[in-house]
Amino acid sequence: MEPIVYLNGGFVPHREARISADDRGFLFGDGVYEVIRAVDGALFEAGAHARRMAAGLQALRIGSLEGGAHALLGVAERLLRENALLEGEATVYLQVTRGAAPRRHTFPAPSTPPTVYVSATRFQPPAELQEHGAAAITQADVRWGRCNVKSTNLLPNILAKQLAAEAGAFEAILVRDGVVTEGASTSVFGVSRGELRTHPLTPHILPGITRAVVLELAAARGLRVDETPLRGAELGRLDEIFLVGTTTDLMPVVVLDGTPVGGGSPGPVTRALQQGYRARFHGAARSLLLST
Ligand SMILES: Cc1ncc(COP(=O)(O)O)c(C=O)c1O
Repeated sequence: MEPIVYLNGGFVPHREARISADDRGFLFGDGVYEVIRAVDGALFEAGAHARRMAAGLQALRIGSLEGGAHALLGVAERLLRENALLEGEATVYLQVTRGAAPRRHTFPAPSTPPTVYVSATRFQPPAELQEHGAAAITQADVRWGRCNVKSTNLLPNILAKQLAAEAGAFEAILVRDGVVTEGASTSVFGVSRGELRTHPLTPHILPGITRAVVLELAAARGLRVDETPLRGAELGRLDEIFLVGTTTDLMPVVVLDGTPVGGGSPGPVTRALQQGYRARFHGAARSLLLST
């Protein structure tokens, strides 16, 4: 079946979706995006994703999106229906750029409409790695100073992720000035003597939606959380490390830079939070379906 996507107000077959070669997303990476998980047709943490996109659009001063980011949630739901994704798992991709205009660095005329693209795709979670754990490498974090904006401009993330893949690893854990910030496409948690460590919300990391859910689960379990940034040098002394993200869920890191983490297998805190996260993820879908 040819996928149906949304582009600039219309629902069209994927192969008919056309974007101008002058689009500032293409020329400059001048836009923001979101990825939202859906289970049985229900979008997980949809409001939080829409709020983050709205904040990103505001930060980049892309102001003329009709209905704002929240209006795109209705589009996302319709795409799940149109693409027969109301059962099982899917991801929705949303991207808004500053639109198409003759190439120059400064903003185009205020009348230039943003380019809005949304697609929905069948998704299979990385179950094997979630179960047995993944390898990661450390890499210098060479990104800009506004990583809290989910910009489409992902070059440093792509280069780091590629190096990880070439090293047989799932993720590159980024270290800026000796401090662990986050993964190339995940938030990073450490566990030391039962206490969670993760980077605080600053412009040096993305305010991860999954990170926020994991912090709620940790609070509900009475786990202590310390948001003092981890030093790169501390990584080797942690009992557990795990990665979290929309398409990653919770993934144990069992090997870092070729050395086993803790006992070399997924630890008890990671396992407990994984269980809690799965219950919340599938429970959220069930309660949404019951209320409709
Ligand atoms: C750099 C970065 N950090 C963290 C995350 C995890 O964020 P979320 O849990 O909102 O998917 C992502 C997700 O793509 C990311 O790209």
